[in-house]
Amino acid sequence: MSVKFAVIPAAGLGSRFLPATKAIPKELIPLVDKPLIQYVVEEAYEADIDTIVLVTHAAKSALENHFDTQYELETELEQRNKLALLGIARNTLPAGMKIVSVRQGKALGLGHAVACAAPIVQDNPFVVLLPDVICHHAQQNATAQLVADYAIHRSSVVALQEVPVDDVHKYGIAAVSASHRITGLVEKPSAQDAPSRLSVLGRYLFTPHIFAELAQTQRGVGGEIQLTDAMQALLAHETMRAAVFDGEVHDCGDKLGYLAATLTFAKRHPQLGEAFRQLLEQHI
Ligand code: UTP
Repeated sequence: MSVKFAVIPAAGLGSRFLPATKAIPKELIPLVDKPLIQYVVEEAYEADIDTIVLVTHAAKSALENHFDTQYELETELEQRNKLALLGIARNTLPAGMKIVSVRQGKALGLGHAVACAAPIVQDNPFVVLLPDVICHHAQQNATAQLVADYAIHRSSVVALQEVPVDDVHKYGIAAVSASHRITGLVEKPSAQDAPSRLSVLGRYLFTPHIFAELAQTQRGVGGEIQLTDAMQALLAHETMRAAVFDGEVHDCGDKLGYLAATLTFAKRHPQLGEAFRQLLEQHI
């Protein structure tokens, strides 16, 4: 069975990015010229996913609108013969992709958000992409790497990134065996207690058994239903593999991480890159 569903949890409060996120969903903040969420939808598309399950919130309906038809704008652009812009406006959702949204009434945590997708995903394997984490790899994107691993091993698989020892206390860290199996997960360990330097970066592939674990997961750290707790429980029953991602990972939910990503993506932008690099030189 191939992987066709991608769950994108986007119902969080975005409090680290206030005031920008008071009225605008964090996931719609642009990285150069595209909203964060569009990058992850495109990443899923490149990994042959055909259905996005967007987990959203009543205050964030702009997210659904971004992937819908905007009739007035499109008609206007068509009448003015602005076909390039029309293509950009129309292709926010790649051709052939479907998007379904479910509501998470209250931000009860990432684990709870993923569980909200269960009635759509049902008994299928699926990927989870955190939309405020933007990855880049010149060859194979992080989600495609997970899907390829699943095609061989048929197990849940989690993308990990090696981080400097001084940073392990900021992340969920995985213990990994020589056969690339995850044997444990520790949230924000001290450098001495960390089982490795491999952090969970925000791209996961799960068998549907994770839903049974989520249904039993009690509120944990911060009073939230934590995905990590359900993963820890799943580990006791089935193999969870580790896929080390060696591309760029940007935490765009954090202001400084977002600024760093903006610099990197702007410098690389096919149309703006050259002019942006010159601009930078003038400011240094
Ligand atoms: P984050 O913890 O980075 O996002 O969750 P947040 O809660 O929106 O941000 P802060 O910490 O208040 O600044 C990662 C992703 O999971 C979603 C968020 O929308 C974000 O895209 N999420 C988080 C949910 O969908 N529901 C939740 O209850 C929590």
